[in-house]
Amino acid sequence: MNKITSVAKLSKEFILELFNLTKIVKKDWPELGGSRKTVCLIFWEPSTRTKLSFEHAAKKLGFDVIDFSPSHSSIEKGESLEDTIKTILSLKVDGLIIRHPETGISEKIINMLPESVFFINAGDGNYAHPTQGLLDAFTMHELVDLSKLNITIHGDAKHSRVIPSLIEALKKFECKNIRFLAPKNLCLPNENCKTEIVDGMLSDCDILYVLRIQKERFSKDEDIENDFFAENYQVNKKFIELTKFQGNVMHPGPVNIGIEVTREIVEGRNSLILKQVENGLYLRVALLKLISMS
Ligand code: CP
Repeated sequence: MNKITSVAKLSKEFILELFNLTKIVKKDWPELGGSRKTVCLIFWEPSTRTKLSFEHAAKKLGFDVIDFSPSHSSIEKGESLEDTIKTILSLKVDGLIIRHPETGISEKIINMLPESVFFINAGDGNYAHPTQGLLDAFTMHELVDLSKLNITIHGDAKHSRVIPSLIEALKKFECKNIRFLAPKNLCLPNENCKTEIVDGMLSDCDILYVLRIQKERFSKDEDIENDFFAENYQVNKKFIELTKFQGNVMHPGPVNIGIEVTREIVEGRNSLILKQVENGLYLRVALLKLISMS
């Protein structure tokens, strides 16, 4: 297994091996074994956490890192994605880490790659963001047995690429208590989605997983006002008191402070948001180790 497009395609055994290696990386950091492989980062969309943590992880493992910036490349002169990838492969890279706006493009990209070249999907449209889903599941698994986890996903699950990956990871660990809370137009179809905030509704919830409104993936006929969301759904002190939530708050980032959540909650003692970023580094080291050596 050296091509990661979605969590759905990973076995529970692979994920457990990844979590165990992530724990070792976390314990041993910064003492890690080195290698001279070359990885190319190709980000068609902006990123802070994913791109920097992959770059840091790869360099810490002794990889050479090539940073391909589509907006400063020959794509601007009309070169296609396929020809760009062929060109990069001719430069003898060992692996590609790609973020792209097109939903599911990672499944097409892996068909262009030779067996020996590893691949990690760093987010493609709203298809998948496997390493974010896995690092979040790892962060939850450090606190709670995932089969007993009670999680509420709050906000724009409909346009999220993290949520399909997170749900796939949680389901592999037999997590059954996955609920949603959002305005009707941001609920996923066929999911257990509550649209009203009710007294005590989160009293038994371990993790409140908050999402920003991902307007960059809205279709032309979709919209929601930030003010409406902030007024009616924002995770703030009043929301926490009303819902009687006593668990931990998570968010994949970037956070839009003052819209889906207040700074007081993001920086509060129950927030795991920066722990998620830190665990993302360890998990990406572990994943690069696992798939670049197989
Ligand atoms: N969560 C996430 O993918 O963040 P970045 O866009 O900053 O990489």
